[in-house]
Amino acid sequence: MYDSGKIIPGLIIFVLIITFPIWYNHGDAGEVPKPELPKDSKQCVQPAAEIRAKHMQLLNQWRDEVIRDDDRAYFEVDGRMFQKTLQNTCMECHKSKVKFCDTCHVYTAVSPYCWDCHLAPVETE
Ligand code: HEC
Ligand code: HEC
Ligand code: HEC
Repeated sequence: MYDSGKIIPGLIIFVLIITFPIWYNHGDAGEVPKPELPKDSKQCVQPAAEIRAKHMQLLNQWRDEVIRDDDRAYFEVDGRMFQKTLQNTCMECHKSKVKFCDTCHVYTAVSPYCWDCHLAPVETE
């Protein structure tokens, strides 16, 4: 009744496809993300280790200061002036949400809801 000549190879292919991510990465958790860093500046708004670990807190702090206290104070990084904004400061240097923010967030399975309201830069590539 069943055509085992087709079912068995079909099953083998199915199992190979399903397990592809496992054997392709030799069973480890996969590549650690490499966010694409800005080419036109060398410094972030905080030292690298600090911004990496604490950018969520910094963004919340900026939001509170801007919304509650209307404090958008300018500051200087790498010879350029910036204000406390997600869109016009962070994303002015980190020009791609996909190649920067998302690389880590997808890897660590966080999805900040900020982009429901804040505009992400237009992806050029
Ligand atoms: C003046 C340009 C500039 C601005 C503005 C800026 N960044 Fe950065 N950011 C950089 C650079 C350059 C690096 C790499 C620094 C290094 O490696 O020492 C970096 C590094 C980072 C990292 C760590 C990346 C890694 O691979 O570990 C995070 C996270 C980050 N930035 C988030 C932000 C956020 C969030 C904002 C806004 C609050 C912001 N940046 C604003 C230029 C900027
Ligand atoms: C070097 C990796 C890395 C990069 C690059 C990065 N993030 Fe994150 N981000 C994380 C990690 C890890 C978390 C989760 C931290 C936690 O849960 O404590 C996070 C969490 C956040 C959160 C809080 C989300 C939540 O649901 O709690 C916000 C907001 C955020 N990131 C914004 C940004 C923005 C905006 C950028 C791009 C400018 C960016 N991040 C780039 C690693 C990164
Ligand atoms: C429901 C819509 C909404 C969501 C979701 C949202 N924001 Fe905002 N955010 C606003 C509005 C509106 C302002 C006020 C804009 C202004 O006055 O410049 C603001 C202001 C800010 C500011 C200061 C000024 C600016 O333009 O950047 C920061 C920083 C900020 N939000 C960060 C975040 C982060 C980080 C997240 C995600 C964790 C987030 N916001 C999610 C609506 C939102």
